[in-house]
Amino acid sequence: MLYTPETAQDAAKYAVGRAAVERYAHDGARLGLGSGTTSAWFVRAFGEKVAEGLDVVGVPTSTATRDLALSLGIPLMDLNDLNQPLDVTLDGPDEVDHDGDMIKGGGACLLWERMVAAASHKMVCIADDSKLVETLGKFALPIEVIPFGWKATRRSIASLLDDLGYRETEIVRRLRDGEPVVTDSGNFVLDAHLDRITDKALLDTNLNWIAGVVENGLFTGIASEIMMASPDGEVRIIDLPHRYAARVPEWRKVSDLDHGRQQ
Ligand code: 5RP
Repeated sequence: MLYTPETAQDAAKYAVGRAAVERYAHDGARLGLGSGTTSAWFVRAFGEKVAEGLDVVGVPTSTATRDLALSLGIPLMDLNDLNQPLDVTLDGPDEVDHDGDMIKGGGACLLWERMVAAASHKMVCIADDSKLVETLGKFALPIEVIPFGWKATRRSIASLLDDLGYRETEIVRRLRDGEPVVTDSGNFVLDAHLDRITDKALLDTNLNWIAGVVENGLFTGIASEIMMASPDGEVRIIDLPHRYAARVPEWRKVSDLDHGRQQ
């Protein structure tokens, strides 16, 4: 089926999805496939290359992306079966700042997205230019929690946020059609309305120390490149230097990172 973008924002997502395929989908490539509407444009363009005979493999970051990729004939691999890191994961943000730090999880896929990115040599943020912000936080921060005792977990999150200076933060369990949203791993999503995130790496690491929190959507120090498109189809590439990473994937040498730089 032929898909065409219908809005200006969609046109930008379409442009960046196609540009990402041109840049990274070469013969033999092993790619992490992001989730959400931007990534869907990327996956569709990737599917066209596969139909033309490109020899590639993908690891999806959600059941929705898995189903889309399978419908397009893209060969997939299970994350468990990787014996070396993926070349690159391409995924879209809900917000991205000039450091390449992101809020993710608007589609509730943050856990698998973070795991697949961590299993990749490189993570590239693909976005339309409406996603670029000076300061992260207007988009409510998704936090994936286990259903058992989720209200207790929410209290612990509220207490941490208060300690970190985010006063009386509204933290809402995400609903769809009146029912709790359940992630691909069977968990709930809490959305924390922070408005302005001031110490990104500190918040990222501390949230994950809370019992009951499975993952949070504040992706700090993960992207090493942003590909960003405007509705007229122009794509620019923003390279991000090595910098402080709150959580270092096992195959990225700690010595390669600049631990002198604070965020
Ligand atoms: C899903 C995500 C998405 O990647 C994020 O919500 C961006 O989505 P879109 O490309 O539709 O704007 O994090 O959990």
